[in-house]
Amino acid sequence: MSALPGSGAFAAFCGQWNGAVDQALRELLPSPDTAPQRLHEAMHYALFPGGKRLRPMLVLLGCQAAGGDPGRALRAAAALECLHTYSLVHDDLPCMDDDDLRRGRPTCHKVYGDALALLAGDALLTLAFEGAASAGADATAELARAAGSLGMVGGQVEDLASEGDPQRHSLERVRWIHTRKTGALITAALLVGAHAAAGGAVPAAVLEPLRAYGDRVGLAFQIADDCLDLTGTAAELGKNPLADVALGKLTWPAMVGLDQSLATARDLAAEASALAVPITAAAAGWRQVPAPALDAARLLLQDVALYAVARRN
Ligand code: IPE
Ligand code: IPE
Ligand code: MG
Ligand code: MG
Ligand code: MG
Repeated sequence: MSALPGSGAFAAFCGQWNGAVDQALRELLPSPDTAPQRLHEAMHYALFPGGKRLRPMLVLLGCQAAGGDPGRALRAAAALECLHTYSLVHDDLPCMDDDDLRRGRPTCHKVYGDALALLAGDALLTLAFEGAASAGADATAELARAAGSLGMVGGQVEDLASEGDPQRHSLERVRWIHTRKTGALITAALLVGAHAAAGGAVPAAVLEPLRAYGDRVGLAFQIADDCLDLTGTAAELGKNPLADVALGKLTWPAMVGLDQSLATARDLAAEASALAVPITAAAAGWRQVPAPALDAARLLLQDVALYAVARRN
């Protein structure tokens, strides 16, 4: 994990919490030998050993930034990873991006077939809401909005509709898509974490700077994903590069080129980073939080913003 770009704070945080996130996932998921066995195997296959686990880490970080103990948010963190992983399983299906490599292995449908991959995705999605309920009704509603037709699913629909339709490609449209298909869930992860911290209503003064931060990190993260499709290798990414080019996807670099895309991603990361102070100040104004925990959260928020752009996978 020390290979992560940035100051090392986020790499250390991941090192500290990775095992607990995996444990929370195993507690949320039925074991692979539970009937229907093949379905549960497919769910485990998609989730383990897994990818970067960014969204669950953002749940834990959102919790800490709102003055909570990240350990309180582990079940909600597992929920976000289930929801994200469902989105990847469906994204890879032949009727969507038709990819055969994910997280360094054959995609779920290549191993289990289209129907079971579809259903494993459905089951991961519904399981996510069982997990999110641990953070309360506000967290569950936040996740539902972010994942649904106004969020991730809506973004995916427009992503597909704009494939091979270059006359309708514009920067405004790609921003619309990226904000929803990727940004919405990244923002929701942070907000779900904040809800988990409180076990009750979280004031808008705490939620709104966190939302503004997540929106910027989320967009920067997807711009970086688009760039990595052009510059990364299959070994680095665990997925096939140049997939967007082959499909005629509407991506950020397709609109403005690689250099300008990276510059925009860096600007967004800098904007996000500047919000770390208002986020933690709002938490301090809301409840008693030990200063070292908030200092650590501030550093982590800054480091994650950097990481979203500088990552190599
Ligand atoms: C891939 O997400 C899909 C996007 C939203 C870009 P990640 O790059 O976080 O994938 P994993 O979870 O590490 O596999
Ligand atoms: C996927 O975007 C976003 C979601 C899964 C919601 P991409 O299609 O760019 O993700 P990758 O590149 O396949 O991981
Ligand atoms: Mg896609
Ligand atoms: Mg894809
Ligand atoms: Mg991509």
